[in-house]
Amino acid sequence: MPASRPVKIAPSILSSDFARLGEEVAAIDRAGGDYIHVDVMDGHFVPNITLGPMIVKALRRFSAKPFDVHLMISPVDPYVPAYAEAGADIISFHPEAGPHVHRTIQLIRSLGKKPGLVLNPATPVAVVDPVIEDLDLILVMSVNPGFGGQAFIASQLRKIEALRKRIDASGRQIDLEVDGGINLETARQAIAAGADVLVAGTASFQGGPQHYAENIRRLRQG
Ligand code: DX5
Ligand code: ZN
Repeated sequence: MPASRPVKIAPSILSSDFARLGEEVAAIDRAGGDYIHVDVMDGHFVPNITLGPMIVKALRRFSAKPFDVHLMISPVDPYVPAYAEAGADIISFHPEAGPHVHRTIQLIRSLGKKPGLVLNPATPVAVVDPVIEDLDLILVMSVNPGFGGQAFIASQLRKIEALRKRIDASGRQIDLEVDGGINLETARQAIAAGADVLVAGTASFQGGPQHYAENIRRLRQG
């Protein structure tokens, strides 16, 4: 059995009502979301376009919780300062998005933000090994990035287990986050495999604001 550790829920605002984005951020904060997960897509690295830094900046005043900004953009380095300035707390990126993973991590750190590395379903675990000492978060994609509402790819549970071992061996405090297709069943599986932060879009926002607190409470129980 894995050690029991507190589980954080990071609602992805991709599944919120974009016409009421500020209110949605405030509502999901009040409902108990631990991080506000912000999915940034560029229509190039992934086949969808979402939120620029001006929107992140405008949303900042609706929640004091950490903004967990997931950059699905390429190139990534030219845009990191703008998202840092907009109020991101954690900035995560994909190693395939630029040629210099270590440089991007240092850039995020130099701006006073927490760096995260994101592994696509086909990205090998070993990509974290040379940089694990420099990371505050590792994000395992359990869907191919680009859209909410996709089905969880079960093979990623082995990757979560492998990363849990590496993080524990490092002795560092690193969030192990999983993103995509999280529902009550896959939440339980991901927690059992060693994840301690669950991104949940559909599962957090389903049913409308009166259901958010219950949605989050049930996910956290695993
Ligand atoms: C997918 C995004 C996810 C997505 C998750 O590219 O990174 O954060 O919003 O949505 P659900 O929870 O609906 O799979
Ligand atoms: Zn995401």
